[in-house]
Amino acid sequence: MPTLIVVGAQWGDEGKGKIVDLLTDRADIVVRYAGGNNAGHTIIVGGEKFVLHLIPSGILHAKKRCFLGGGMVLDPEAFLAEVEKLIARGVKIGTRLKIAPETHLIMPYHKTIDHESEKLRGKRKIGTTGRGIGPAYVDKVARIGIRVADLMDPEVFRDKLAHNIAEKNYLYKEIYGIAPMKAAPIYKRCLAFGKLIAPFVADVSRIADEAGRAGRSVLFEGAQGTMLDVDHGTYPFVTSSNAVAGGACTGGGVGPTAVDAVIGVIKAYTTRVGEGPFPTELSGALSERLREGGSEYGATTGRPRRCGWFDGVVARYSRRVNGLTSLALTKLDVLDGFPEIKVCVAYRYKGATIKEMPYGLAEWRGATPVYRTVKGWSRPTAGVRSLAKLPREARDYVKLLEDIAECRFKLVSTGAGREDTIEVGDPYRR
Ligand code: GDP
Ligand code: IMO
Ligand code: MG
Repeated sequence: MPTLIVVGAQWGDEGKGKIVDLLTDRADIVVRYAGGNNAGHTIIVGGEKFVLHLIPSGILHAKKRCFLGGGMVLDPEAFLAEVEKLIARGVKIGTRLKIAPETHLIMPYHKTIDHESEKLRGKRKIGTTGRGIGPAYVDKVARIGIRVADLMDPEVFRDKLAHNIAEKNYLYKEIYGIAPMKAAPIYKRCLAFGKLIAPFVADVSRIADEAGRAGRSVLFEGAQGTMLDVDHGTYPFVTSSNAVAGGACTGGGVGPTAVDAVIGVIKAYTTRVGEGPFPTELSGALSERLREGGSEYGATTGRPRRCGWFDGVVARYSRRVNGLTSLALTKLDVLDGFPEIKVCVAYRYKGATIKEMPYGLAEWRGATPVYRTVKGWSRPTAGVRSLAKLPREARDYVKLLEDIAECRFKLVSTGAGREDTIEVGDPYRR
């Protein structure tokens, strides 16, 4: 059975949760590979809504095993709360949820630093989720981070924590002008969390490798989206991890040869939460209509999402940097009833037409979209389950997006529920 990566092709919130849940029936294990509880993945099953932040979106399938890959950052308290919440709602977790030992911890001071550094940035703030994600990845790259494996050893943990607290207290005092912290209560509290997460720790890389070699199917679940990737996104208005498909290898602990296919999840329009460039952003009534029609409010922070038309430059770029073998189009139904719809096919910048993603803030900010306007459809697409049953204009729209993205849709989603999906082809196959 093949191995598939599900990756966000825009600025996050494309509907990865729904697509991963849907495709889990064909997977043996699901491995999330990047980010932390900055993510909010929504799944609606039988009219019941679940929002997952750390736990892979395969967890609602009773027999499937789910893994948090080492490329993630873990807030132990948030993880345990999410587990509790699922159990309280009747989801049986048992031994089918595990965390890689190399996963870095989000410590309490990372959340403080996230808030304080955003304050310091003032007008240049990123608009982070405030979950301590950036500072945790900073420590990882600075080689002072504390990993899940370290938390399993009280002596190693004490030593690393002491070093970190001394360094952070210097920052607290000299940069942020806030009161220092004491190591002892943090040590005690984290160690208690450590005891609770110990049964969840397992070698995810090895399990994924064994599954693949035994011919079982592995689904890698991305978080955030391509344009929020620390290397390939609209830097510095990005998150701090590799959200792109390549992150599944480093973050899941497998080599590129283990991967058979990559599906990019992409909305029929575009949204973004937080600050940063967004060439096709709309304002006024059209933006409002997309936001209300698509319930575009952050699943993690509740912030209203910025809304705009589909950006073909982003779609083509996403195909390239993720090596997409197919796309899943989501939220087509949200465009029901729009008399006309615009699609960005290129940018204009300083008199030139740009078809490929530029690399500088000035270009991203100054780029104006070149639009192609198409006629909308009057018959609803909501809940439609076959291409043939879509109104002709909606089918034409799907075809236009495919041509612009230079990639085929294997899934088209027409509603938030698992069953509101048109399956055009098998995403696990190239
Ligand atoms: P993720 O972060 O990529 O998993 O996406 P989010 O869960 O943050 O946001 C996607 C939102 O759109 C959720 O509320 C989903 O329930 C919803 N959704 C997903 N697919 C569709 C669709 O095809 N149509 C509609 N109307 N809603 C959808
Ligand atoms: P899912 O997985 C949308 C955005 C934040 C902010 C930037 C940096 O649900 O698609 P961070 O807290 O990561 O340092 O914030 O990234 N962001 C997301 N936007 N969906 C997400 O996840 C996001 N995770 C982070 O809004 O602009
Ligand atoms: Mg989300």
